[in-house]
Parts: sequence; structure tokens; C-alpha cells
Amino acid sequence: MINVRIIVMLRSFFVSLSSSSWAQQTFSRWGIVKRLASRFIAGENSGDAIQAVRRLNERGIQATLDHLGENTTTLDEANRAVDEVFHILAEIDRSGVRANVSIKLSQIGLILDQEVCSKNLKKILSKAGELGNFIRIDMEGSSLTEKTLALFFEARESQFDNCGVVIQSYLYRSQADIQRILSIHGKVRLCKGAYQEPPEIAYPRKRDVDENYERLAEQLLDGAFSAGLPRLSGDDCIPPLPAYATHDENLIKKICASADSRGLPKNALEFQMLYGIRRDLQDQLAANGYPVRVYVPYGTHWFPYFMRRLGERPANVWFLMSNFFRR
Ligand code: FDA
Repeated sequence: MINVRIIVMLRSFFVSLSSSSWAQQTFSRWGIVKRLASRFIAGENSGDAIQAVRRLNERGIQATLDHLGENTTTLDEANRAVDEVFHILAEIDRSGVRANVSIKLSQIGLILDQEVCSKNLKKILSKAGELGNFIRIDMEGSSLTEKTLALFFEARESQFDNCGVVIQSYLYRSQADIQRILSIHGKVRLCKGAYQEPPEIAYPRKRDVDENYERLAEQLLDGAFSAGLPRLSGDDCIPPLPAYATHDENLIKKICASADSRGLPKNALEFQMLYGIRRDLQDQLAANGYPVRVYVPYGTHWFPYFMRRLGERPANVWFLMSNFFRR
């Protein structure tokens, strides 16, 4: 009981550090923190990121690249973030690696001005479309859920089919959101959720989050099945309708069994994991014929991302420290 309480406290501690600009400015300059973070982050520039994708591709795994950054506070910053997405799309095209791109809308202006963000999103989707690529819109804290979904639906109405969105199983609203997305054959990446949310809107107990993930995973499989001919993975960039972002082996086994019992081919779905986490499981799924995509974050703004990874698994702190001192 005490252990569970300590873990919950550590979780809240790391997640609150992830949104503290003071913590970011202070700790991200420390060499030791930077080195510890390098387990989860491909590097600080696009060259590092493309190298990491190449290594994944050699293992039969695809990638989604994320230029780290969120909650931009000026239009200048938002414009620079759009430029960086253009740059990485061009780099993917030039290098021929198998990858698409994930973005956070708060990085391209969502907190500043929804209109600006909408224009930026459409510019990015248009560029990605020209290059035959796909953009996944990450989901952030609950204050942005409604706005993020609104911009996703708006993009789809504007005929940008090359985008998908993320749904979090810790939110009570997610079943209804998936229903709406399935009604337009939208593409969903399902995850558990990485932010600190109040019990009025999100399941506080992990067990309930996991159970809801299972229900939503089934809902997505139903959607893929009833879409008639589900969009099969196989294309290097365009993912199939359901993408399951989790390292939870139990859940993964249940999803595979359920898809199989419906007669869905393996490439009707995709499993997604984070760079540096459960590489063994990534390889095992790929060897069994499932499409696997790894989320590859890069850039100098890595501190909030790193804190959220520690919050998910506070034991990482000891693991990283012991590895560090052993080296
Ligand atoms: P869970 O937390 O139950 O962990 C299951 C097992 O996975 C653990 O026992 C451990 O082995 C391993 N594991 C999990 N996290 C680990 C970590 N940090 N370090 C080491 N091992 C770990 N969230 C969000 O809110 N918005 C988003 O857009 C996204 N996008 C996204 C994309 C992709 C590809 C992934 C994989 C995840 C996300 N997430 C996310 C994060 C997600 O919400 C969730 O916080 C993490 O995936 C951890 O949850 P699991 O489902 O892995 O299960």
C-alpha cells in the first residue's frame, strides 16, 4: 500500500516537472540529466533522428518522428516548429527511410490562436500529402482534447485524409470520441494517456485505464472490421485504421487474439512503441508478422518528454542511474 502511494506520488512529481519551465531551464542543462535522457531520445537534430530510423528499418520496424516541443508561446516559435516539420518530411523523402511524422498542436500554435494553428496544420498536411506521407496528431492534456479533435475533424472535412489522431483510454469520453472518428473512417492511435488528469474526467486507477483500453481496442477492431476492407498496413508511411500504442504485453496478446478470431489479417492493425522501451517486444511482434512502428523523438526540447517517461515508470530513475554509474 505504501509502495503504491510512493509510486503515485513520484508519478505526479515527474508529470508536474514536465510542465515546469523552471525545472526545464534548470535540469536540462545538467550533463547527467541529458545523458540519462538519451535512452529515450534519438538525438538533438534531424540527422540523429534519421540515423535512428535507419537502424529501426533494418530491424523491419517503421517509425514516426517527433520533433520535440510543446506549448509554444509565440507565433515565431510556432512558425519555426512548422518549418521543422517541413524539414523532417523532406529528410524522410530524401533519405528514403520508412517513417511518418507525429506533431503536437500546441507546438504549432494551438494555445496562442486556434485559427493560426488550423492554418499551420493544413500547411503541414498539404506538404505531407505532396510527399505521400502521413501526419499523426498527438493528444496532449485534457484542456486541449476538444480543440485537438475539432482541428482533426476540420482537416478531414477539408479533404486531408493523410492524418490520424490519438485517443487516451484514461479519459471517460474516449468511447464517444472513437465512435465519431470511426464514423468518418478516421485513423486512431490508442494509448493510455501520459498527463495528470482529475478524477472527474479520467479514471484514477490504473486497472480501470487498462480495462478501458481493452474495451476501446475492441471498438477499434469492430470499426476496422466493419469498414469492409480495412486499410492494410504495408505502405511505409500510411498506418492502418487502428494503431495500438502500448508496451503492455497482456493487452497486446489479447488484441492479437481478438483480431485473429475476427479473421483480420495481421497487417490490418499496427503496434506502436516508444524509442528505447521494450525493444525485445518490438522485435518479437515484427518477427511474428505484425507491423510495428516506433515513436522516435528528437530535438533540444526533450525535458518534458523525458519527465513523462519517468512518470510512467518511476523505477526508470533507479534503472538509468545504476546503468549510468556502471558505465
Ligand atoms: P503501462 O504503463 O501499463 O506499461 C506496461 C509495461 O510497459 C511496463 O510494465 C513496462 O515494461 C513498459 N513501460 C511502459 N512505460 C515505460 C517507460 N516509460 N519506461 C520503461 N518501460 C515502460 N500519451 C499521450 O497522452 N498522448 C499521446 O499522443 C501519446 N502518444 C504515444 C505514442 C506511442 C507510440 C506510445 C507507445 C505511447 C504514447 N503515449 C501518448 C504514452 C502513453 O499514453 C503511455 O503513457 C505509455 O505508453 C505507457 O503506457 P503503456 O501502455 O506502455 O502501459
